Amino acid sequence: METRIAVCPGSFDPITLGHLDIIRRAATLFDQVIVLVVINPAKTPSFTPEERVEMIRKSVEGMPNVKVDAYCGLLIDYVREKGAVAIVKGLRAVSDFEYEFQMALTNKKMLPYAETVFLTTSTQNMYLSSSLVKQVAMFDGDITDFVPRAIYNEVRERLCKKQGNPQ
Ligand code: PNS
Repeated sequence: METRIAVCPGSFDPITLGHLDIIRRAATLFDQVIVLVVINPAKTPSFTPEERVEMIRKSVEGMPNVKVDAYCGLLIDYVREKGAVAIVKGLRAVSDFEYEFQMALTNKKMLPYAETVFLTTSTQNMYLSSSLVKQVAMFDGDITDFVPRAIYNEVRERLCKKQGNPQ
């Protein structure tokens, strides 16, 4: 039988518990999920693509049908190359919707057979975003409820100013 592959793209700078929840649920719906760190040359992320991939790998340990990759280019080209059938995105609030809808329609126009599947975020993660997590970590706030346990120390060490990071 055909392996149904879904791609779960994002910046993941860094991965949050909200992302992890979407990845875990996508992994129950598809045979294989590829979590894709999309490199956007216009953005200045806090973590390198390699660091982001590594942090995701640590976070998805024990999920046998989840792979992690990084990519710079058009998402649909990657989806086509991997033979994926779907793009999975998490939706937190109405504010996410317009941009996500625009991207989904554009991707659909360019690659009609690939569906964008939106999973609604779990209520406990509605407020979570990588940028807010970074702000909390930067000022030594507690990020236990925001990022996977496996990357907690790494995020704090890199971002927390009190730990000698001048950024
Ligand atoms: O986590 P983000 O930053 O909201 O993810 C946005 C992302 C990476 C999914 C989006 O910017 C994307 O797909 N970029 C790849 C370039 C591309 O295909 N652009 C056209 C999308 S319609």
